[in-house]
Amino acid sequence: MTHPLPARLPRLLLLSAALLAIPACAGVAGETRVEPNTLVPEGVMRYAPSVFPDRIVASPAQDAATGFSVAWRTAASVEAAVLELVIAGDSPDMGPRRRVAARSASLDGENGAAQFHRAEVDGLQPDTLYAWRVQGGGTWSPWMQTRTAAAADAPLTLLYFGDTQNKNASLSTRVLREAHRQAPDARLALFAGDLVSGGDGEDDNEWGEWFDAVGPLATMLVNAPAPGNHEYWEEFEDTPQERRVLGGHWPRTFALPANGAPGAEQTSYWFDYQGVRVVVLDGTSALDLGTAAAQAAWLDRTLAANPHPWSIALIHQPMFSPRQDRDNVALREQVLPVLERRRVDLVLQGHDHVYGRRPGEDAARATPQYLVSVTGAKQYRLSDGARRDMAPTAEDTQLFQIIRLDGDTLHYESRTATGRLYDAFEIRGATPATRTLHEITEGRIAPRDCARDATLKGRADRCWE
Ligand SMILES: [Fe+2]
Repeated sequence: MTHPLPARLPRLLLLSAALLAIPACAGVAGETRVEPNTLVPEGVMRYAPSVFPDRIVASPAQDAATGFSVAWRTAASVEAAVLELVIAGDSPDMGPRRRVAARSASLDGENGAAQFHRAEVDGLQPDTLYAWRVQGGGTWSPWMQTRTAAAADAPLTLLYFGDTQNKNASLSTRVLREAHRQAPDARLALFAGDLVSGGDGEDDNEWGEWFDAVGPLATMLVNAPAPGNHEYWEEFEDTPQERRVLGGHWPRTFALPANGAPGAEQTSYWFDYQGVRVVVLDGTSALDLGTAAAQAAWLDRTLAANPHPWSIALIHQPMFSPRQDRDNVALREQVLPVLERRRVDLVLQGHDHVYGRRPGEDAARATPQYLVSVTGAKQYRLSDGARRDMAPTAEDTQLFQIIRLDGDTLHYESRTATGRLYDAFEIRGATPATRTLHEITEGRIAPRDCARDATLKGRADRCWE
């Protein structure tokens, strides 16, 4: 029922006055300020664990056609939890379900004591949509739906995200959402590492924001992250005994395949997803903890046994660094020769907070293509060498990648936070030895360079932070 005119009039007048006032307010609010690393103000508890399961994330099993794993978080009071699983149907009656017991491990942080749970589901049917939920303390999560990988020759769409790391809720969220909008058929998401920034014991809010940024993709897709240097912390910092120690969040937050390299068992792994073998390396352990040779030998064995036509390597630190004054010698000496010899198709990297793509040392060869990208807010500057050896390159740009594998063709797109095409190519050929590269330049936006002399904090070696 509508109000009689006299009663509506004062509201209309108020609304008109408010609309007229907007332009004056917008001018005042438009100022750019240094933004804190999270949206959580000092002294506010935003991400305390509770009896309700949160931080629920699915990851591929070694054979993603027959299994996946799930990690989730609850309050410390939840000592044991289970996952329930059925083949997804259209009725709300979920019927008899399989129960999988989780393994649990506690972790203390700035948001209080938490319990992290991990359930590994195996024996599944390929290309099948499963509904599942996880248990809290007298509670359940919503039913999630995750599809197992299909046969090796089925087309696959996957997403790649460079470092998220800073201001995850504020500025990574839009990139993840645009990626999902552009590629709603994606089944798998790969992450370059440096998912968060802080050291151990002070990063739980950042992890909470990472899950907010990833949102429903955490369970609609299976997620495979590489560890970055920011997933480690420094023990005995600024002393001769200083060394990297893996943060407590990493092994608890993701349920990843336990098939890693000797010496980097918790942080390297591989899996097969629909015609592609994905090998995830730990660059920090290779560079700072002396495992480069062991990881290279493991990489070589893992690639030699690849029954699939395609392969992707994922590592945080780049083989060819596009940032000034960075050079990861141990990776280039130990890992690079294996990537080249085994003709890995894509080497997906991060760490340098710019974008750059290049071939290996033999530019005539189509593969590997070495990519460095960044999803998050922190933006560095390109080195002169990167401008010479890489194309395209970008500064001051939040990006994501869509990779489509279909038969003899790998189609690659790099898109900006607003969805604009920045880089594209195809790799074609039935076998690694016959692959050719085809640049796609149509529709790309112009190259982007940093237009600022310094960041708001005054750093001239960075573009934004
Ligand atoms: Fe990094």
